[in-house]
Amino acid sequence: MIDLHCHILPGIDDGPRTIEDSLELAQAAVAAGTTTIVATSHVSWAYPDNSSQLIAQKVDEVNAMLLDLRLDLEVRPGAEVALARALDLTDAELAGLTLGGGPWLLLECPLSPVATGVEQGIDALRRRGHERLVLAHPERVPAFQRDPELLARLVDSGLLTSVTAGAFTGRFGKNVQKFARKLLAEGMVHDVASDAHSVVRRPPAVGPELQEAGLDVHQIDHLARAVPLAILQGAPLPPAPAMPVEQRGVLSRLLGR
Ligand SMILES: [Fe+2]
Repeated sequence: MIDLHCHILPGIDDGPRTIEDSLELAQAAVAAGTTTIVATSHVSWAYPDNSSQLIAQKVDEVNAMLLDLRLDLEVRPGAEVALARALDLTDAELAGLTLGGGPWLLLECPLSPVATGVEQGIDALRRRGHERLVLAHPERVPAFQRDPELLARLVDSGLLTSVTAGAFTGRFGKNVQKFARKLLAEGMVHDVASDAHSVVRRPPAVGPELQEAGLDVHQIDHLARAVPLAILQGAPLPPAPAMPVEQRGVLSRLLGR
């Protein structure tokens, strides 16, 4: 499985503090069936020193350790770029922060309850040519919770979504869980990732979380392997597998049919 959103690099954001903590997280990811992790450290005003150069250097350090320990896991560079910070970065720096060096950028929209200007910010980035955007955990973004149509418009216009696996099992509460399941039922979930920070705080267990949430093997393979692979390769997204009958029932209830 490929985890497109994981805070595995040590000492540069609110993820692992030391390289030993990163190793612990890597071991947990391997145990959960993950073979590739994209290191998506925060690039935001809270961590103004984080850059593509620093992330690349840290990725090399972690991969060297994994190789030494013969752990079957590849870490690739990436970032979780906050919308407000993205607007201030150069085009070259944004290009250096894409997921695995591919064409897609993981964008974090504001999580504060009063956040506004999401659509305008995204439009500004797109006008600068940054068209291929993956929205990090939209199920937790107040602007989308308040106005699901805004998210639907963005998805219709070509943006992708990466939902946190734990959202489906209720790790972020009932409302987020309900919204995540609604997005899944409506075909608005493209990728599922761990957004892991440590083995204690949100562990890197994408497959097990999705199994616990009742998704079938075809859905899990699609959301946690086939789609993230296409995103890394810049390839067209594979067609989604048919929705199981019981989830169609959930969709009907959600849509009031
Ligand atoms: Fe994150």
